Amino acid sequence: MKGIILAGGAGSRLHPLTKVTSKQLLPIYDKPMIYYPLQTLVDGGIKDILIISDPVNIGNFVRLLGSGKEFGVKLTYEVQDKPGGLAQAFLIAEDFMDDQNITMILGDNLFVGDNSFLKDAIRSFDAGGRVFAHKVSDPSRFGVVEFDDKNKAKGIEEKPAKPKSDFAVTGLYIYDNTVVQKAKSLKPSERGEIEITDLNNLYLKENNLDVKIYEGYWLDTGTFDSLYEATKKIYELRNKN
Ligand code: TTP
Repeated sequence: MKGIILAGGAGSRLHPLTKVTSKQLLPIYDKPMIYYPLQTLVDGGIKDILIISDPVNIGNFVRLLGSGKEFGVKLTYEVQDKPGGLAQAFLIAEDFMDDQNITMILGDNLFVGDNSFLKDAIRSFDAGGRVFAHKVSDPSRFGVVEFDDKNKAKGIEEKPAKPKSDFAVTGLYIYDNTVVQKAKSLKPSERGEIEITDLNNLYLKENNLDVKIYEGYWLDTGTFDSLYEATKKIYELRNKN
């Protein structure tokens, strides 16, 4: 299993913080944000990781993380010329993946606590796709899972005005190697992005998407409030005793 950290994007909701730097380089208490998703992949047992960022910031990630030796992993870097959507990562990563399965995490997603859940999910992964849904109070900000009466996922809607559940799809995805061909088949959405929700719905249509419920602590740190919340949470954890 190889890994991707997707760490580009416009970060427009965090302007002016992100006007001259990348969102994933901003501090979450005592570390740059990207350290947290990197640690999640490391805890998942992934040793070969591709970092994707924009042309302006990619050099800073190389300066910060280097070869990956410090973390016991091998890091490779690729550029996304423009923020063309989350699923574009698999087009950029095609050579890196080399027909293997892949776990992708978004560079602004924090899974805090016992990260053995990822190791278990990878160990038991065979084929298809596997995503992690988490109960949130503001589902309209995310891809939202619709469940049937047997609690099986039947659809995912991107940022719905009227969400059909409180379960958001988090920014951590495990896919088999068909993900590259699937991503290639997608057309950009109205906002001009190749949507990961469309990709997940392709797997769902094949009856090949496993939606696991993640009950730990999760935050997408893309807004001022969630950035503050994340810093507060890490501060509390570090100063518990
Ligand atoms: P978002 O938070 O959805 O987008 P953004 O970072 O561009 O922020 P904003 O909406 O405030 O403008 O992106 C989720 C994560 O994925 C984040 O870590 C940035 C990353 N990303 C890319 O690397 N490339 C992309 O094309 C997109 C859309 C996001």
